[in-house]
Amino acid sequence: MRHFLKETDLTPAEIAGVFAAAARMKSGRGSEAAALARQSWGLLFFKKSTRTRVSFQVGVHELGGQPVMLNADDMQLSRGEAVGDTARVLSRYLHGMVVRCHEHALLEEFASSGSMPVVNALSDFLHPCQFLTDMFTLAERFAPGRPEQYASSLKGRKVAFLGDTSCNMANSFVLGGAALGVEVALAGPAGHEPGEAIRAQLRRDGLAGTFSFSTDPAAAVRGADMVYTDVWVSMGMESEKAERLRAMRPYQVDAGLMSLAKPSAYFMHCLPAHPGEEVSAEVLSGAQSIVFDQAENRLHVQKAVLAHLASAR
Ligand code: CP
Ligand code: NVA
Repeated sequence: MRHFLKETDLTPAEIAGVFAAAARMKSGRGSEAAALARQSWGLLFFKKSTRTRVSFQVGVHELGGQPVMLNADDMQLSRGEAVGDTARVLSRYLHGMVVRCHEHALLEEFASSGSMPVVNALSDFLHPCQFLTDMFTLAERFAPGRPEQYASSLKGRKVAFLGDTSCNMANSFVLGGAALGVEVALAGPAGHEPGEAIRAQLRRDGLAGTFSFSTDPAAAVRGADMVYTDVWVSMGMESEKAERLRAMRPYQVDAGLMSLAKPSAYFMHCLPAHPGEEVSAEVLSGAQSIVFDQAENRLHVQKAVLAHLASAR
């Protein structure tokens, strides 16, 4: 039984295979193998979603399976039914589960209690489907037309992550970047540096000491191949909004900061974006921005992940 709860649940060789499969699924969309034929996969959401919900629903369908949309508010979970019992029951019906939730521990409990693959569709801790897609989207540019070189084309590249450097996306860059040999330079306000949980995960994976954190945005961006940011107020953090908007203001990705990166650098954002906050409208819609390619690639990369987990059962 294989799960994809964090970036290091797939080996670098498996990620290379997922990238190659995603490239095939992208170019051959509509004629891909029915890797989930006659399967039903649950898509359980405790939080809002546009991209993740739709790309997984479409992806399961395109692989020959049936997506079963589950809103946590409509389930007995919201009336106190135990997570473990829910996972055990759903395992009797479903072939796999995609879950977006608050505490990462809920995902781990789902995976350990049930008997089907579980995919992390975002937790407060990590967003591995987004990270994998972001790396695929970059690699399409670094090794155009050579999917077998996508993973190796990322090695030694510098990525700058600005703003909320303690959020799930930042954690995913810290962990996934270390696993794939990508240099990750984070810049954000003091008090929002990567926390102990992600540092402990790096140690457990034997990847400690592979990222840098600075309060100076220019230092992080200088020489970067890609500049990334995410919202300053993640889902669940709304009560901290005023403090966050004030503290993170110096980290807005604008044209001035982008000019410090390599001239060939890309701008990326997982979306949804708040132009005028974490990124200027000019950069978000500018020539260096590849945010809509990222959004599209969620479909292709997640299909490859699902097919891989289904075949690894
Ligand atoms: N990037 C992302 O996960 O978007 P959604 O919240 O719309 O799913
Ligand atoms: N950090 C953001 C990502 C949204 C896709 C959040 O958790 O809200």
